[in-house]
Amino acid sequence: MQVAVLNGVNLNALADRDPELYGGVGIDELETRIYAWAKELGLMARCQQTNHEGQFVDWLHDARGWAGGVIVNPGAWTHYSYAIRDALELLSTPVVEVHLSDITEREEWRRRSVIEDVVSARIVGKGPDGYREALELIAKER
Ligand code: DQA
Repeated sequence: MQVAVLNGVNLNALADRDPELYGGVGIDELETRIYAWAKELGLMARCQQTNHEGQFVDWLHDARGWAGGVIVNPGAWTHYSYAIRDALELLSTPVVEVHLSDITEREEWRRRSVIEDVVSARIVGKGPDGYREALELIAKER
């Protein structure tokens, strides 16, 4: 089964962001781990990252044609993008929302996710390992 793993805005700069919050792992290393975890679970991951909201939406539309599961970390878009929310609503596969940091314990504006009620599951504050958990959830639902 193929899984789309979509990372959004500013996640390309992960290596330079606060390691206390984000785990100090760069996007390349994160994606390498995701590919390895997926393989262990008998899944095939396709990781993509963009800083452009329309591109993120296009990838979500595209995933309807091939993905059996979707993992999203939209970064700051999580807190205000109704465009991404609407695109997620079109998916009929399991969707897991992942955040490296625990957004429920951070600034007030970050505690709100406009996508939380249109995803199947949500994993926050577990650093890179959160993506592993998300893959495990998708593998279980297969
Ligand atoms: C994030 C949390 C968001 O609030 C933030 O804007 C990010 C990353 C996370 O993975 O913890 O860019 O989605």
